Amino acid sequence: MAAADTLAFRGTFFHTPTYGQLEALRDAVVVVKDGRIARIAKAEEEAAVLRDFGLSEARRLKYKFTGTGTDVPLMDWLKKYTFPAECSFQDIEAARQRYALLVKRFLANGTTTAMYYGSLHLEPNTVLVDTIERLGQRAVVGKVNMDRHSPDNYVEATQDGLRDAEAFIQYTLGRKCSRIQPCITPRFIPTCTPELMKGLAELARKYGTHIQSHISECCGEVNCVREMHPEYASDAAVFEEMGLLTSRTVMAHGTLLSDDDIRHLASRGTAVSHCPLSNFFLGDAFFKVNHALSLGLKVGLGTDVAGGISPSMLSAQRMAVVNSRCLRAHKLAVSGGTTVTPEMEKDVITFKEALWLATVGGAQALDLADRVGTFEEGKEFDALLVDTTLGGTDGPFDVFPGEDDLERFEKFINLGDDRNLLEVYVQGVCVKRGDIFELEASVLHTKPQGEPSDEDRLLSAPTPAEPETDFLDLAHRADSSEGSPAPDGEAEPEAKRARR
Ligand code: GUN
Repeated sequence: MAAADTLAFRGTFFHTPTYGQLEALRDAVVVVKDGRIARIAKAEEEAAVLRDFGLSEARRLKYKFTGTGTDVPLMDWLKKYTFPAECSFQDIEAARQRYALLVKRFLANGTTTAMYYGSLHLEPNTVLVDTIERLGQRAVVGKVNMDRHSPDNYVEATQDGLRDAEAFIQYTLGRKCSRIQPCITPRFIPTCTPELMKGLAELARKYGTHIQSHISECCGEVNCVREMHPEYASDAAVFEEMGLLTSRTVMAHGTLLSDDDIRHLASRGTAVSHCPLSNFFLGDAFFKVNHALSLGLKVGLGTDVAGGISPSMLSAQRMAVVNSRCLRAHKLAVSGGTTVTPEMEKDVITFKEALWLATVGGAQALDLADRVGTFEEGKEFDALLVDTTLGGTDGPFDVFPGEDDLERFEKFINLGDDRNLLEVYVQGVCVKRGDIFELEASVLHTKPQGEPSDEDRLLSAPTPAEPETDFLDLAHRADSSEGSPAPDGEAEPEAKRARR
């Protein structure tokens, strides 16, 4: 849904049109018409609020157990936590409640665009699409496919999987919601037969959809693929053969991609979603963002909840910076010296590069760079209204006299959280203001008084039974042989939105 009218926002707008460069559009007026930025001008030139800004791309479902399940490597984690959690989404009422909580949590954390892995069964994925539509987020959504090496009660026959994947695409396209696009989602190579992967690639071609999967994530997974597909040199080679590397493909992780793999993905226009926090828990290596970008790869940033423990893209940005510092520290340790050389510095990124990854990088990865990512005329208006003045016990950081807007913005990126987000805009529509999810509120105000909210229902609902799992012996063998992976206090002006 696009805003039907014209709005003007006055304030300071922060964005990163160029990697590593933060641009502040000070005292600017952004005029938004039908969800798009029609004009950006200096305030004095414009008879007409955003104080600060941010915008995000993220990924993920498994919200149910986010913040737990951090004790085992990937292949065990899938078996112990992920598959049972996803399977329980067959309970449609539970799916409805959990997805409402998930999408709200992302919006509350300022994620205006998300890439979602749903679950195996068709219907819960349609619930996810409905929920995103209802709450006003922008998203790319996939029904997960897996037809082998999966638990007996959480697996599909190849032809059923292809049928349901197509039905999901048709359902999503049928919503005719310009914010939501369907995605082909072979979970990862170990759980997908070549027949399934080729059939899914064919569907992606037929409907021009996005594709998402996991690539070269950790030793257990990579060794499993080598054992299953000795004829291919790497995960990338398998995906290439299956026809799944396209300019609309986003592969998660990629920590163990070789340079040849990266060049190959880049030549196909395929992107990697860098999920630093998840990589710390489930991966065995660090993703080298600057190196991958230098080889021409598109890179966005992801939370990967529940692989990563935080649903916040602010946290993902901080972790991307920490990840890069770890690379430098590792090189220094290997050198045995005390001199940080320019070569060691190459991998280091700052909050500015991290913000670019979360905005422009994500938009490029999702083939949305002509629509979102920066404040430019012609692009759609996705933005966050940030309050940097909540000090003391009201907010996550303090500002002191003399700190300028750049310092306050950096504090927000490094220390801020959902408390700082006053309003969240997607396609020119305010989808969250304070504690209120605006689109839901506009529907709910017609609801009979006293009807329970999704949260109320979730808290009172019994937990759906979870399935017994029996998963991937081959992968488990490979995995266990590897071991674990390793302003100055002065009040800001009141936000004013001038309607025209
Ligand atoms: N590999 C296969 N499935 C998954 C998943 O759900 N999360 C992560 N991080 N890796 C995977």
